Amino acid sequence: MSFLRAMLQQALKVSGRSASPLFKWMERCLEGIAVGCARQSDNQLRTLEEMPGPSVFSFAWDLFGKRGLSRLHELQLDGRKRYGPMWKASFGPILTVHMAEPELIEQVLRQEGQHPMRSDLSSWKDYRNLRGHGYGLLTAEGEEWQSVRSLLGKHMLRPKAVEAYDGTLNGVVTDLVHKLRARKQQNPRGVISDISAEFYRFGLEGISSVLFESRLGCLDPLVPVETERFIQSINTMFVMTLLTMAMPKWMHQLFPKPWDTFCRCWDYMFQFAKGHIDQRLEKEAEAVAKGEQIEGRYLTYFLSRAGMPMKSVYSNVTELLLAGVDTISSTLSWSLYELSDHVNSSLPLSQISSTLSWSLYELSRHPDVQASLRAEVQAVLGDRLVPGAADVARMPLMKAVVKEVLRLYPVIPANARVITGNDIKVGGYLIPKNTLITLCHFATSRDPAQFPDPDSFVPQRWLTRDEGHHPYASVPFGVGKRSCIGRRIAELELYLAIARIVTNFEIKPDPEGGAVRAMTRTLLVPESEINLMFVDR
Ligand code: HEM
Repeated sequence: MSFLRAMLQQALKVSGRSASPLFKWMERCLEGIAVGCARQSDNQLRTLEEMPGPSVFSFAWDLFGKRGLSRLHELQLDGRKRYGPMWKASFGPILTVHMAEPELIEQVLRQEGQHPMRSDLSSWKDYRNLRGHGYGLLTAEGEEWQSVRSLLGKHMLRPKAVEAYDGTLNGVVTDLVHKLRARKQQNPRGVISDISAEFYRFGLEGISSVLFESRLGCLDPLVPVETERFIQSINTMFVMTLLTMAMPKWMHQLFPKPWDTFCRCWDYMFQFAKGHIDQRLEKEAEAVAKGEQIEGRYLTYFLSRAGMPMKSVYSNVTELLLAGVDTISSTLSWSLYELSDHVNSSLPLSQISSTLSWSLYELSRHPDVQASLRAEVQAVLGDRLVPGAADVARMPLMKAVVKEVLRLYPVIPANARVITGNDIKVGGYLIPKNTLITLCHFATSRDPAQFPDPDSFVPQRWLTRDEGHHPYASVPFGVGKRSCIGRRIAELELYLAIARIVTNFEIKPDPEGGAVRAMTRTLLVPESEINLMFVDR
């Protein structure tokens, strides 16, 4: 068919504007037949109406009646068992299609288009428009997102660029080791309770050191008030995001509190980031004025040098600080489910803190792996105490441990895509454009067909050449154009921290503690405090 059309088009081109009406008529006929054929094959596709899934009532019961809000990751496993790898569910007006097989996830991501979209953070954009701020990587879409992404990618994704941050990050790791030592000494058995809280501060300090090459004091004995207020603003802002998006705009006048609080939180976050950026750049300018040679090694410096307008630098740095410590992929629907959990929680958790906590938790329960990991780090370091980025490249077990932890506990257990350009075909269904698609990463990474003995911590599975699973079965940082831009920085930070912790301490489970389960709070986080015993080495 396409061959015939091509021949006709060629004939039309050759005959020019005066082409015979017969040719044109024939082309229209062929077009009609082609559309008919496509329709026919589309007819074989099933529609959303035919897709299985729970009724609105039973889904609401799973979520609220059975405390499913914090078990959303397990609902993925239930859903797959009950309905197969693809099912739909409605929460109020929001309908979402779940995909719980790597092949399906791959099909979605391969059709996501030039400028992929996770979800529409409309209230975040409204705030920026109101205050005249620019959009950062989290809020920008389309061409604007593309240009910011290309610029940031140069400094955040290129291996050589990221290696340059190892000295800065190692300074933060040193503070963390001191902090852990001080904390363990406060307990007669050397137990540090609630290790995640310590790692949250480490995560924030780490990302800010990369952004400003200066410190926030998160690991000091007394955390500065402004920093505490920044952390609090992030948490409150997330809760208010949900409320403000659930309320139509005209209701903001009637019930102004959520929107006002939301704006105040963002105001503080922007002010906090701007304060640090301005302070850093002023120091830079003073040094230049004195004729000093400066070699900035922090992201803000690179961005301002690359000609990014300051308005854009402020918004991007604010959003990177936020992305570095809190979730970025929460879609409106997921967030709505979790509203109650957020409101009730006071403990902040981040991707870095969650991954580090689970890593040490698993290593404490697998002393053999911990011993092999320590041996690997020591063999690479020789007489040195502090690894650099280049050393990490020679630590395959370290990488396998982090991969395995992120497979077992994918910090973002479900991601989302909204394909806006056109309808897409996935797994025999036609998914209309603008449908919210939930990618069930937890389900695929715990699938026994992909990973034998899926609930066990077996880092060795990543060391064999033929890993035997689908490449989209465990993708904790996402895949493709809109995947995590902080991935390399996060991995480096994790490797440097774990290497120093296992060489400084032996980590054992708290003798009085039990197993800790995971729960969903947008991120997949420990359900209860992780307490660990640290023994000096
Ligand atoms: C263990 C640590 C981390 C994990 C597992 C993680 C995971 C993810 C995932 C799954 C996404 C969504 C990808 C997609 O939609 O395809 C994402 C996006 C993103 N992450 Fe991370 N992340 C981590 C740490 C970080 C850090 C430290 C930063 C900041 C430096 C960061 C910055 C971002 C940003 C800005 C985006 C949005 C990218 C865009 O929209 O173009 N992440 N991350």
